[in-house]
Formats: sequence, C-alpha cells, structure tokens
Amino acid sequence: MLYIGVDLGTSAVKLLLMDGEGKIQNIVSKEYPLYFPHPGWSEQKPEDWYEQTMAGIKELIADADKSQIAGISFGGQMHGLVILDKDDNVIRPAILWNDGRTTEECDYLNNVIGKDKLSEYTANISFTGFTAPKVLWVKNKEPENFEKIEKIMLPKDYIAYKLSGVHCTDVSDASGMLLFDVKNRTWSKEMCEICGVKESQLAKIFESYETVGTVLPQIAAELGIPESCKVVAGAGDNAAAAVGTGTVGDGMCNISLGTSGTIFISSDKFGVDQNNALHAFAHADGHYHLMGCMLSAASCNKWWMDDIVRTKDYAAEQKDITKLGENHVFFLPYLMGERSPHNNPNARGTFIGMTMDTSREDMTQAVLEGVAFALRDSLEVARSLGIDIKRTKICGGGAKSPLWKKMIANIMDLEVDVIESEEGPALGGAMLAAVANGEFASVEDAAAKIVKVVDTVKPEAELVAKYEEKYQQFKEIYPACKPLYDIITK
Ligand code: XUL
Repeated sequence: MLYIGVDLGTSAVKLLLMDGEGKIQNIVSKEYPLYFPHPGWSEQKPEDWYEQTMAGIKELIADADKSQIAGISFGGQMHGLVILDKDDNVIRPAILWNDGRTTEECDYLNNVIGKDKLSEYTANISFTGFTAPKVLWVKNKEPENFEKIEKIMLPKDYIAYKLSGVHCTDVSDASGMLLFDVKNRTWSKEMCEICGVKESQLAKIFESYETVGTVLPQIAAELGIPESCKVVAGAGDNAAAAVGTGTVGDGMCNISLGTSGTIFISSDKFGVDQNNALHAFAHADGHYHLMGCMLSAASCNKWWMDDIVRTKDYAAEQKDITKLGENHVFFLPYLMGERSPHNNPNARGTFIGMTMDTSREDMTQAVLEGVAFALRDSLEVARSLGIDIKRTKICGGGAKSPLWKKMIANIMDLEVDVIESEEGPALGGAMLAAVANGEFASVEDAAAKIVKVVDTVKPEAELVAKYEEKYQQFKEIYPACKPLYDIITK
C-alpha cells in the first residue's frame, strides 16, 4: 500500500509518497504566497493551500500505482485561524502562527482573565500567534466577519475537510489553539465561553493516528485514487516532524530548523512549565510534549541570503566560515518578534558588534549562530525544569547545512543525530496514515522501524567552551535592547 504525507508549511506544501515499509517513493513541493499586510502581520489564503496541495498530489502520484493509495495524512503549520461561513466559504485570509496583531487580546487573556486560569484550563498562556486571541481579534476588530463564523479550523484541517468533508482536528494541533484542555484532550468549556466560541463551531477531535473518514467521491475521481483511501487526522507540523524523526516516547528531543525554529521534547506524562515559557501540548503518539518555538529560524538565513546578500547559493556563502566561537558580531533573530522564551511581538532583528574589519562571512556566521543561541534559550528553560537532554534529532530546511548542525551541537552542547530524511512533517504525516491503516502497531512501532540515524555530530569540548562564553554575552543583549524595541515599534 502507499501513503501520502502532506506538510502544509508556510512557504510551501511538501508532499511525500511512502510505501508500507516506510520507503520514500517521491517528494514534491509547491509554493504559495505569504502576505504581510502590516508590519508584524502574516496571512495566507486557504484556497491557495488547497489548490497547491491538489496540484502537488497529482504530480506526486503521477507515476505511482494509484490503486494502492490507502491513506493521506498531514503535518500542518500550527495555530492559524481559518474561518468558514455557513456555505463553507473562507470568510477572510487565514491569520498565521507568526502573526503579531493580537497584543491587546493577549493582554486581556493573560492579565484580565489571568495566566493562572489560562494555564489551569489549557496548560498554556496566550501568545500572539495562538488561535484563541485571533478569534477575539476578529470579534473585536471585524465583528461583521465574526457574526458569519460557522466553522473554526486550523490550516491542515481545512485540507482534511476539503478532502473528506469531515470537520476534524487532532490533539496536537488543537493544543495550540488555547481553546483545548491539553491534559484531558478535550475542548475547554471555560475558554470557549471566554472567547465567545460555540463548541459547535469547533472540530471533532481525533488522535493523530485515527481515521477521520475516506476521501469524497469527487476527490477520488479527480486524483484517480480509490474511494476507500483514508483521510487520517495527522498532527501539527512539529508533532508530525517528531514522528518523522522518531521523537516519540519519553525524553526524546527534536530540533526543527524551518521557517520557525523549535525544540520539541517528548514525554510519557502530562507536565507543564510553571512559567509557561515552553508550550505544554499533546503529542501525536498519544502522549504529551513540551516545546519552545522561535518565530524566525531558517527564515533568518533565507532573508539574509535572498534579500540582503542576494544569492541563492547558501552553501557557497558558508564555505569560508571557519572561525567558530570567535565571532565578534551577534545577531538577534527576532525578525517577526519572538515567542519562546521572550514572548515579545515588539522584539526586532538586531546586529551588534560590527567593526571596520567585519566581513560578509562574519555577518552570515552571526545569523546562523544567532538562531542557535536563541534555540539554546529554550533549551535552558527545559534544563531549568530538570529535563536532562544530551542528544537531539534535527530536521527542516536548515538541517541541510553541515555548518549549522555543527554550531547547534556546540552552542547547545548536544549530540545531534542526523536522520536519513530531513522531511520531518511530511514523513511523519505519511507514517500516521500507515499506522491508521494497520501497517504498524503504533506510532512508536512505526518510528522504530522506519527512522534511521545515519550520522551524529558530536560537540567538541574546546568549541563548547568558546561558545559558552559567547552565549553568556548573547544573553545580555536582549534585556538591554528590550526597552528600545518598545520605542522603535511605537
Ligand atoms: C509552533 C509554531 C510553528 C508553526 C510553523 O508553535 O508556531 O512551529 O507550527 O509551521
């Protein structure tokens, strides 16, 4: 049998075809636009996602035996607000995970309702990118749109709905809505009331590896696949990436260097970071995880390379970077504000430390190092909770760079396990579809059989010491800049 994994990302949808033994048969990627209608706002059109997903699936399976396609599942960009009216029309563009417009709504939720209450109801506090403050924003700023809402859904769930006709979501993605009681894996009645949401507007909740339905007859006909092909709930992209990298069970770690940067720690048991700097979410394996999320990771390098240095040859720009741990230039990677651990939509990208002899390589190095230092900020929160992390998997576009992996290993003092495929969420999606079809006994079983570590980047004591000194300097820069960010974003 064959399984399709759909990774509905921010820059593109990546589609992966996997056989029942976990072998990747094909990968296709289709881009769509991202809109920034105001500084700090970020939107996409759900119709673009659907169009490109369908085009991508057709290309993906063009040469495959279509009669063998038994399941489709997802990893999707999290937190995005998709709202449909009674005729299933998209009411307004989706407001994405890295959108910072909901400062007032977050202040209301965190300070008037109170962080303690939010944490009690959902295991999390409000961040600007989360879904509930966006619902409140629509209620406050676009009441005419709020009135029309029939269905509230997350990005990948819009695709699942179009394919299956079932208004569904999964526990890992629902966790990022702030409308979900993570511990009990159910909608929070209290949060629905606070946000003016009716439970009938929310989706039916599934575990990530559960089947929500089969493809609609017109979809089966359009794609040339069997009507029995299952649509499986899938997961938020980070939980799906964790499945695709084998970060399941207890105490495993995965770093994703995509548009966002995340550090994901799987756990058998439900647990909350008392300061709520890390998110406490449900995992796609039936358990839980903690996660730190930075809003700009590989996107910092993409911005620096594409828009500033103006090259597409990222590897060429990195090849002369040799003086690791000795850079005088620092970069704070807050190009879209920052989520973990600072929770500050006003934070901005910042270079500091240049002198007349600073070179282009030093600046590029600072961008890559800045992302690794900022990820370490979240790792330090996890360490302060007593979580002992010595090694991690890695995935995402940034994981293609050997230099960046070396920086991560030494800045974070972690052994970095490189796996055969860095297609985390798309592979994870296909694996969830295979589990739902009975190819594997469980998500953990699928991970054990499919995911292979092909290399390990080990930290080197001397370099770790040099970077430790640099990290201590890096840590001082954000608090010093924080008041300035408020002034310059007024
Ligand atoms: C996680 C988050 C991002 C998006 C990126 O909380 O906001 O990682 O899921 O697609």
